[in-house]
Amino acid sequence: MTDKINDLLRRVEEFDPRTVAEIEDFRIKVLGKKGELTALMEEFKTVPAEQKRELGQQLNRLKAAATERINALRERLRDAEAENASHIEDMSRPGSAEQLGSRHPISLVRNQIVEVFARLGYTVAEGPEIEDDWHVFSALNFPPEHPARDMQDTFFIEKNPDILLRTHTSSIQVRTMERQKPPIRVICPGRVFRNEAISYRAHCIFHQIEGLYIDEGVSFADLKQSLLYFAKEIFGEQAVIRMRPSYFPFTEPSAEVDVSCNLCGGKGCNVCKGTGWLEIMGCGMVDPNVLKANGIDPDKYSGFAFGMGVERIAMLKYGVRDLRLYFENDVRFLHQFDSAL
Ligand code: DAH
Repeated sequence: MTDKINDLLRRVEEFDPRTVAEIEDFRIKVLGKKGELTALMEEFKTVPAEQKRELGQQLNRLKAAATERINALRERLRDAEAENASHIEDMSRPGSAEQLGSRHPISLVRNQIVEVFARLGYTVAEGPEIEDDWHVFSALNFPPEHPARDMQDTFFIEKNPDILLRTHTSSIQVRTMERQKPPIRVICPGRVFRNEAISYRAHCIFHQIEGLYIDEGVSFADLKQSLLYFAKEIFGEQAVIRMRPSYFPFTEPSAEVDVSCNLCGGKGCNVCKGTGWLEIMGCGMVDPNVLKANGIDPDKYSGFAFGMGVERIAMLKYGVRDLRLYFENDVRFLHQFDSAL
């Protein structure tokens, strides 16, 4: 009889049903009125008294094990069936929405600026972010003691003062002049690096766009008209610009460019600090020393250059007050701009 009990116990343990109905059949076969366990109980009545204690315990264990396994299996299959059923229950239910990404506002504004200049015949030029002293400073007429070369501004690579992260995209001017003879007309977007404390108006990584135009007879009037066109395309038809004398080592004469404040229409507000003007870029006529250093004859050719910060243009265009928002990548901030263009 022990063999029969063990055999049934093994079959109970190995029982592996696919459906709830299968479990019910099994339950009747084992625990039902005419089931195997019931039959064993009957047989138990006939065993000799001295075996009753041992066999009785075995039978009780078998009954408990069978009941427990059947209940557990039934519960598990019911849950699984309920879940399957709910998946196909309502085919018309809306799916869970995928969040679509959007272009970063800095990319959008950069592309827009590049497009404006593409319409004026400029092509895109690029250069490396890790540069050497020649391309970032020396070839651009920076005197050896110029403060921009200082440790405070420039990130140097591995203590070698000749290898550094470019501090401006003007280095691409140099790379372009090395590759190409005039006429040259390039627009150079890129990421730049400066050892600056991060604040609402400064970051150690930001983006610039550089422009360079070199040909015979290029004048300051050409520069001014090109930048006016740019300002109107980016800030609107009503935009006007003004130029203030300035200094850059690589241009002579040099100027700072302001655009009329598009937030107050030039009347004066807290963004333009009451002046009605917003500073947007530096520019000037390429210094003859720069042309010479890059193998271009300054007696034959002249040119202009300009450089602007993409974050700054984007801030002024959209009235964003804190530059750090562009780097925090909060999608609630970033999503606002895709439809704005
Ligand atoms: N490279 C300058 C800067 O990072 C910006 C600039 C000024 C570029 C005048 C130019 C320029 O090409 O002509 O501040």
